[in-house]
Amino acid sequence: MKIVKTVSAIREEVRKIKAEGRSIGLVPTMGFLHEGHLSLIEAARAKHDVVMVSIFVNPLQFGPNEDFERYPRDLDRDERLARNGGVDILFCPGVEEMYPGETAMTIHVTKGIDVLCGASRPGHFDGVATVVMKLFQLTAPDEAFFGQKDAQQVAVIMNMVETFNVPVEIISCPTVREEDGLAKSSRNVYLTEEERQEAPFLYQALQKTAERAQAGERSREQLLQFLTGQLEGGSGAIDYVDVLTYPALEQQEKLAGRIIFAVAYHYTHARLIDNIIIEIE
Ligand code: PAJ
Repeated sequence: MKIVKTVSAIREEVRKIKAEGRSIGLVPTMGFLHEGHLSLIEAARAKHDVVMVSIFVNPLQFGPNEDFERYPRDLDRDERLARNGGVDILFCPGVEEMYPGETAMTIHVTKGIDVLCGASRPGHFDGVATVVMKLFQLTAPDEAFFGQKDAQQVAVIMNMVETFNVPVEIISCPTVREEDGLAKSSRNVYLTEEERQEAPFLYQALQKTAERAQAGERSREQLLQFLTGQLEGGSGAIDYVDVLTYPALEQQEKLAGRIIFAVAYHYTHARLIDNIIIEIE
C-alpha cells in the first residue's frame, strides 16, 4: 500500500494508473476507520483494479461549535486497517495541502439541504461538496463509494456529479451495524457506557416506524408522530426526525415510492444519525 500525502504525488499516481488503463475505485473518509468504511473498501475492491482511500478530516464541513478539533484521529491504526483491507493507495493530505492560503471558492449546495442535517448543520454540505469535488479532481475515480448511513450526503453528491458533469459513478452501500443494531460510526467512541447501552433504540424506532408503513400506514403525519413518540424517554435529545421521499427529500403527505425515515439524536458528547429507506407501493 502506498501512502500519499501531497497533491502532486497523488496526481502522479493517478497518471500512471490511467496510462496502464486500470480502473480506480475511491472511498473518501475522515479516518478512524471502522467496519462501515471497510465495507465500502470491500465493495470497491470487488470492482476495481486500484482502490484508493482518502483520509482527511475536512475543516470546511464542521460548524464553529462542532467537533473538528476533537474528531477522533488515529492514522497508524487506519494505515493498518487499510493495508489489511487491500487498499492500494492511501491519500492522507494535511489541511495546508488541501486548503493552502485563504479560501477563494466553495461549492454552494442549493437543493435538498433545507431538511435533515442540511437544516441542522448550516454550511455542512457546502463543505462536503467542496472537498469531495476536490478529491474527485485529484483521484479521477471511475466509481466512488459512499454509505447510506449518510443518506443526504449521497443525495447531495449525486446531485453535484450531475450538476457539474463529473465523470464518476456514485455507489451507495448499505449501513453496517453493531450486533445490537447501532449504526457504526467514528463518533460512537464519544458515548458514555449508559448512552451506548441505550443508543440502539434509535434503529429500533426507525424499524418499528418502517414496519408500520409497510403494514399500510401511509400518512406522513402519523408516522412522524409515531417515530417521535418512540424516541421520547431516551436520555438524550432529538435533533430532528423526518419522513421524506428519497433521494429528492421532499415532504409527501400520502407516502408512496422510496421513503426515508431519518433521525439525528444528541447525546452528551455525540450527535448520532441513522435512517432506513424503504419502497412503498
Ligand atoms: P466519514 O464519516 O469518515 O464516512 C466515510 C464514508 O463511510 C461515508 O460515505 C459514510 O457514509 C460511510 N459510512 C460511515 N459509517 C458507515 C456505516 N455504519 N455503514 C456504511 N457506511 C458508513 O462521510 C464522511 O466521512 C465525509 O463527509 C466525507 C464524505 C469523507 C467528506 O469529507
